[in-house]
Amino acid sequence: MKRGLLDIESLSRQDIEAILARSKDFQPASGENFKRSDVLRGRTVVNLFFEASTRTRTSFEIAAKRLGADIVSITASGSSVSKGESLVDTLNTLAAMRPDAIVMRHSASGAPHFLSRYLPIPIVNAGDGTHEHPTQALLDARTILDRLGSLEGLRVAIIGDIAHSRVARSNIFLLSKFGVAVVLCGPASLLPREMGQIAPGIELTSDMEEAIRDVDVIMMLRVQLERQKEAAFPASEYFQFFGLRPEHIELAKPNVIVMHPGPINRGREISSEVADSQRSAILNQVENGIAVRMAVLEKVLAA
Ligand code: NCD
Repeated sequence: MKRGLLDIESLSRQDIEAILARSKDFQPASGENFKRSDVLRGRTVVNLFFEASTRTRTSFEIAAKRLGADIVSITASGSSVSKGESLVDTLNTLAAMRPDAIVMRHSASGAPHFLSRYLPIPIVNAGDGTHEHPTQALLDARTILDRLGSLEGLRVAIIGDIAHSRVARSNIFLLSKFGVAVVLCGPASLLPREMGQIAPGIELTSDMEEAIRDVDVIMMLRVQLERQKEAAFPASEYFQFFGLRPEHIELAKPNVIVMHPGPINRGREISSEVADSQRSAILNQVENGIAVRMAVLEKVLAA
């Protein structure tokens, strides 16, 4: 992984399986502390976030530290980006300090790909615009495997603001490599037909009940108002048509799991009853984020 981890689309099924298998080694046994290792001792990771983040940034920090690496986190508001420095100049400045990897989140789709062509340092994409969020899809797959045992033959509904979701895109690429049937659901204004063509076998519907019937996994998405110039759907009606409520769970397979990348908006895209229920894997996703990012950082850096 000389160029780091930029997306899921260009990974092979074997690459993905290797990361998922390695992440299992880093998961704590129940009741035990997280695994620690020293493989990255002496290595430095820069965590560069140009967009808001709680879990992803913290998760990369903890993952790097648990592998013995030094990690420095920089957010755009506290950096010279707020003084007008360009992205290339900021990255060149950081590269001159010779970190071993840069983890970056940016609002422009393709920003990490662009920079990885110019910088000799591996870049890990922590979310680029509406394009991809590869470690999220990997931690989602780890969570599904833990709960359901296999990806093969599953049916997964992804519901919400499909148009602006890098989480949806990375998951579609990953799941379709494993033969998972994916149903995308959201208001027509947030469900571009092109999303049905980025991988084989994707269904699209704006009918929530149809989307959920007989699925093994329900992935809910936040409505990304920060990426919409004007609201694509009246806020007051969103929950009525696309909010996940207990009655929906009855339509899915009996052992269905409910996922959400966070941050969740209770009463907007998901009810508290569902978010806090036994079926919810939301906090497992957060926990798995660390093990998966440890596996990714180890692969990218331990050369
Ligand atoms: C997501 C993101 O930023 O892409 N959050 C996350 O990383 N867990 C989804 C979102 O912000 O809605």
